[in-house]
Amino acid sequence: MFIVSIGAGKNQIPLINACKELGFSIIGIDKNPKAEGFQYCDIKLIESIYNYHDIYLLLKDQLVFDDIAAVVSRSYGDVIKTVAYLCQQFKLPYCDFNSVENLIDKSQFRTIAQQNNIKMPYGILLHKKDFNTLDRLPFPCVMKPPKGHAKQNVMLIDSYLELRSYMQSAKHDTVLIEEYIEGDEIIVIGFVHNQKFYIYDISDKILNAKPYFVDRMHILPSQYYNLYDRLQKLGQTIADAFTLQATPLLMECIISNDTIYLIEAACEFGGEYLADYAIPARLKNNIFKTFVQAIVTGKVDMPAKSSTAAVVKYIMGRSGTLVSYSIPKDKNVIHAEIFAKSGDTLHYPKNNHQRLGVIITKGKTVEKAIQTADTILEHMHIIIE
Ligand SMILES: Nc1ncnc2c1ncn2[C@@H]1O[C@H](COP(=O)(O)OP(=O)(O)O)[C@@H](O)[C@H]1O
Ligand SMILES: [Mg+2]
Repeated sequence: MFIVSIGAGKNQIPLINACKELGFSIIGIDKNPKAEGFQYCDIKLIESIYNYHDIYLLLKDQLVFDDIAAVVSRSYGDVIKTVAYLCQQFKLPYCDFNSVENLIDKSQFRTIAQQNNIKMPYGILLHKKDFNTLDRLPFPCVMKPPKGHAKQNVMLIDSYLELRSYMQSAKHDTVLIEEYIEGDEIIVIGFVHNQKFYIYDISDKILNAKPYFVDRMHILPSQYYNLYDRLQKLGQTIADAFTLQATPLLMECIISNDTIYLIEAACEFGGEYLADYAIPARLKNNIFKTFVQAIVTGKVDMPAKSSTAAVVKYIMGRSGTLVSYSIPKDKNVIHAEIFAKSGDTLHYPKNNHQRLGVIITKGKTVEKAIQTADTILEHMHIIIE
């Protein structure tokens, strides 16, 4: 039996490997013939992950239709549409192709959420041309593109002046303006199987300085594990509202005065090294394998609870040129990486893609894991001139 992997890049490898470990042959799709994950695929199809109908035709040529057990992806955004289309064609459970846009577009998502009493920050969709008709806004507000990811162009604004300059530079015709919720942010990583939502793990998020919303650190286990039942219910409400059948599901929430505000939910495993490194180190289990096993065999093997801590600490960098650095080793370091090369020009990050590096550590306690990450950072001797 085959599993189709939409995307064969580096990020896709843990998912491809999980499918292989479960005994499946892999059909990888990627427009880049040199995609790093292709080496683990049994059949390679060179095609953009967004061209869902062309992918369908390519699969048809392979005569494997009756042997496709699942279509999966590690990617986000419009790729959900590709997975939904193929699952519909192959009669595999995922989510309804006709309503997939409701999941991808933040404004449409909000409409469905509102109809289902899912608590989100108050918000409006503003067309650029309607800017002058705006009534009084409760500053500060958060501005964001209706379709976005990795905190690109997400900004806190305090005044009409800032709002105007944001609108003038916005690339989209519409912008989402939301009430700013002050509180603690968490990420809930889970999945839906047989229409039931399962929480896999919960992490706390520490942000960098405003007005941008750059993630500085993720900490596990979350201090909000006590909200497990309420978060499970929230995930289930989302699964029901959007008729999700079988998909990874990630929720970003802010906890403020004991209220859980949903900021974003997406049918993805998420990035930020959580599913790849931090969670497996903590739970000795991996969500890719658990999810794929669930959808192909029906068996849901959730990991045992663990008090082991893990931390994903980002290195922010600053304006200048990266001169040198080193990567020290330590038994509690799960992964450390600098995303730039010596000689590269650096900027202080305005979104998640512009961060300089990452250190992922584990420890008996959160404090110990953070301490290890701090020590490693010192020993990296990063020189920026
Ligand atoms: N209404 C809000 N109140 C407070 N913080 C917010 C709000 N909306 C977004 N944020 C912050 O901005 C980040 C990015 O917003 P989000 O809508 O998730 O965009 P992206 O798709 O880029 O992740 C969130 O993780 C959160 O830290
Ligand atoms: Mg988000």
